[in-house]
Amino acid sequence: MTARARITGIGRYLPPKVVTNDDLAARIDTSDEWITQRTGIKERRWVEHPTTTSDLALEASTEALESAGVGPGDLDMVVLATLSPDHEFPGTACFLQAKLDVPAGVPAMDVRQQCTGFVYASSVADQFLRTGFARRILVVGAEVHSKGLDVSDEGRDVSVLFGDGAGAVVMEATEVADPSADPHLLSTHLHADGRGAEDLWLPAPGMAYDRFMSHDQVSAGDVYPKMNGRSVYVNAVKRMSEAVVETLEANAAPIEAVDLFVFHQANLRINEAVSERLGIPPEKVFNTIDRFANTTAATIPIGLYEAVQQGALQPGMLVAVAAFGSGFTWGSMLLRW
Ligand code: ACO
Repeated sequence: MTARARITGIGRYLPPKVVTNDDLAARIDTSDEWITQRTGIKERRWVEHPTTTSDLALEASTEALESAGVGPGDLDMVVLATLSPDHEFPGTACFLQAKLDVPAGVPAMDVRQQCTGFVYASSVADQFLRTGFARRILVVGAEVHSKGLDVSDEGRDVSVLFGDGAGAVVMEATEVADPSADPHLLSTHLHADGRGAEDLWLPAPGMAYDRFMSHDQVSAGDVYPKMNGRSVYVNAVKRMSEAVVETLEANAAPIEAVDLFVFHQANLRINEAVSERLGIPPEKVFNTIDRFANTTAATIPIGLYEAVQQGALQPGMLVAVAAFGSGFTWGSMLLRW
């Protein structure tokens, strides 16, 4: 029997500071009405300095390890997805490794696939578990967006959308005797199209320029994320829908067989459009965007965690996950919980 991946523990961490739409409206030219109508977001969490991405990851990982009943010394590998690393290099997985006290020698890698980061990271872990390279992997999604946003009138189209947070799971190799009942990851599906790279990106700093970093980049505002909202919206609806269909077809599962859909949370309207297109009843779609906004790579594990907490995700359920993000990147996975 081939080894399959199974989630044995899950954790999440949201920084305590709540920033409501009204808080933002007191600082910039926006309103609760505009943000709620266009995105479904009511509030988000933002860190206070000196909290970093690896700090959030540490909290979520500690809870995930506890819930799996294992310690840092039991891990064979750490995979961390983020677009907001503590430093340009080394990867944030290495900083997390040290903070969590994962033993020296255990491999730690970053995945830089933005909002699809956790799906990519889970797929990486799945491959290593299936081949026997590892038996137990910590998979993390963590983001600190707030320190890198343009919280001014110029940046309002992007800054209102993002929140900070982290989610983590422990994935272990398992034997699956009964695929219709035993918890496991059925399949993962990954895609990208770099032609959309500049529709959602952080132009600077970078080695694309004559100097990695310059005052000109700062004064031009190139150090803040830029987004073509219309293009992101249209592509997200199309690609997330395709990704859901792909994972269902790969497992010969009709859409009615799925008990819960946990989608990336970029915009409630995107998820409503995907659900409508595929005929998914709203009660089967689990959303967190109203409370946490878009936490990029942390969104999916936070969603799974919250769904468990609220009783929406129960043992034995079939869960479809889909995400779309900067790159463009998109992907899906199907889990027996
Ligand atoms: N508050 C008030 N007004 C705003 C704000 C704001 N925060 N941001 C933009 N506006 C204004 C614009 O300036 C514009 O004003 P104008 O008509 O006077 O020029 C007006 O609102 C409409 O702007 P649009 O960009 O056309 O607004 P749209 O209806 O397209 O909605 C939105 C913008 C919500 C971003 C939409 O394009 C969208 O959902 N895009 C998907 C992108 C997304 O969700 N990204 C999240 C991250 S990506 C990811 O995770 C996949």
